[in-house]
Amino acid sequence: MRISHVVKRFGDFTALDDVSLDIHRGEVVTVVGASGSGKSTLCRTINRLETIDSGTIEVDGVPLPEEGKELARLRAEVGMVFQSFNLFPHLSVLDNITLAPVKVRGIERAAAQERARSLLERVGLADQAAKRPTQLSGGQAQRVAIARALAMDPKVMLFDEPTSALDPEMINEVLDVIKDLAASGMTMLVVTHEMGFARSAADRVVFMDAGQIVEAGAPAEFFSHPRTERARDFLSKVLSH
Ligand SMILES: Nc1ncnc2c1ncn2[C@@H]1O[C@H](COP(=O)(O)OP(=O)(O)O)[C@@H](O)[C@H]1O
Ligand SMILES: [Mg+2]
Repeated sequence: MRISHVVKRFGDFTALDDVSLDIHRGEVVTVVGASGSGKSTLCRTINRLETIDSGTIEVDGVPLPEEGKELARLRAEVGMVFQSFNLFPHLSVLDNITLAPVKVRGIERAAAQERARSLLERVGLADQAAKRPTQLSGGQAQRVAIARALAMDPKVMLFDEPTSALDPEMINEVLDVIKDLAASGMTMLVVTHEMGFARSAADRVVFMDAGQIVEAGAPAEFFSHPRTERARDFLSKVLSH
């Protein structure tokens, strides 16, 4: 995925200020930065949940189209997992996972269900298929959301603070699933406040501040020797307790 010189404004406010980032196949990039630095906006523009004012975003050399059928097809190649799960409350876990493959991809229901069951097994929830999302813990719901995104066979997965809404004891069960996915070779962009995870799971860490990518580099390098004052200031705040 190639993000080149992307600018996103909300009125006079510049939320993304000339952001460029390449994510290679199989690479895991974690994004850290203070609240309001533009991390969610970056995820949302990659998925065209937000339009951009200038710049380009390409997946496999193909620019993201503005709208229409082509956009729907390309969007399906980018799986997104949000902080707040966004599962359909009136559908069972299994139906949450099969809905898009059946409706968007036209996959036969029985085949979609079989795939959904194997994905549920992969995220450790084989026995939860018939439940409604409200009957699950937060950690379970987020693992269903991950299975749902995977059911579309995305080329890239975006995670926007996937553990921020979770009770502390559930964070690791979700991070473990994301780590397994990384080990399987999935290309991923993960916005996170979990600095241990950002350091251990990533091939590269990106630090954002005020809508800009201020640093991008190897995790050990970034966490031990941040080059900029802005990164040093951020790390001193998040690592001091
Ligand atoms: N729809 C919007 N309208 C106006 N301002 C927005 C909108 N979405 C985000 N912003 C602003 O853009 C900035 C970056 O937001 P966001 O990407 O959510 O930051 P982060 O995810 O790093 O906390 C914030 O100042 C936020 O208030
Ligand atoms: Mg955010």
